[in-house]
Amino acid sequence: MSDLKENVDTLLDEINRFSITNPEELEQFRLRFIGSKNVIKDLFALLKQVPNEEKREAGQYINKVKLKAEEFFNAAKEQLQTSEEKSLNLDFSRPGEPYKIGAQHPISLVRNEIISIFERIGFVVSEGPEIEDDWHNFSALNFPPEHPARDMQDTFFIERETKEMALRTHTSSVQVRVMENQQPPIRTISPGRVYRNEAISARAHCFFHQVEGLYIDKSVSFADLKQTLLYFAKEMFGEHTRIRLRPSYFPFTEPSAEVDVSCSLCNGKGCNVCKYTGWLEILGCGIVDPNVLEASGIDSKVYSGFAFGMGVERIAQLKYRVNDLRLYSENDLRFLKQFTSAE
Ligand code: DAH
Repeated sequence: MSDLKENVDTLLDEINRFSITNPEELEQFRLRFIGSKNVIKDLFALLKQVPNEEKREAGQYINKVKLKAEEFFNAAKEQLQTSEEKSLNLDFSRPGEPYKIGAQHPISLVRNEIISIFERIGFVVSEGPEIEDDWHNFSALNFPPEHPARDMQDTFFIERETKEMALRTHTSSVQVRVMENQQPPIRTISPGRVYRNEAISARAHCFFHQVEGLYIDKSVSFADLKQTLLYFAKEMFGEHTRIRLRPSYFPFTEPSAEVDVSCSLCNGKGCNVCKYTGWLEILGCGIVDPNVLEASGIDSKVYSGFAFGMGVERIAQLKYRVNDLRLYSENDLRFLKQFTSAE
């Protein structure tokens, strides 16, 4: 019995001193203490020589070393596995796995950029309905009934028993809604979708997007309008950009102008994008007609203001050189995936 105890103690001691740091050492340990020809089995052979009355105690003693060996083996095995996993996770040379985050629509990118340019000089965003009444889309904007200017825009009318309704033909309708609800100073931009009854082609669509701008305060002048638009053009197309204003006509502004920016591709020298003129048209603008102020309850003797309206597709087209308007609404992923930023 004392021999047996001594053998067990030596083995326990050996296990305690065993250090396992790699798979080879683990295997050595397994062969010696766990495998089919392990040393603990030899102890069971010794058990035969122990007197009967001591067998129980001796058996328990051998089991102790057996359990200890198994416990030690399992712990070492687990430890080796986790450190192997850890070293995998900590492989800094491993290439990153890209997230698939989709892309923003080019119209959203450009619209957001226009908004942020005007927000930087104190404009706030306002919105109005796409189904609009005649008053907000036309009458309050100085288009009298049957005025030929209404023919400038082919309108989708919606039949209603009570009131004539239409899909708005421009975001200028939002100007009216803002002025009806707010007294100056007003500095607002109104992004949104507009509709016109046009045959769909590369150059025209039955819906598109505009951003309207409106600034009303005491003694706002044409010079303020010009500087605001120059600031916008430089922010949008680059510091070297110039603008030019051409006289034009809109019922809601007087005087009115159309604005061109110097062609960013040829820097004004002339190329096929600007049709060899060096200029590209981007928006319409003017000093708000006093009739429009009065129609929305603003005293035109105290206040004046300017307004402008631009097409988002047009700006996107110039920024991205997309020459077919239909691409913006066809949802072809090969097209849409190419836009990540308007910068
Ligand atoms: N509403 C005009 C259009 O759709 C664009 C426009 C021109 C808006 C002049 C304005 C403006 O506010 O002053 O073509």
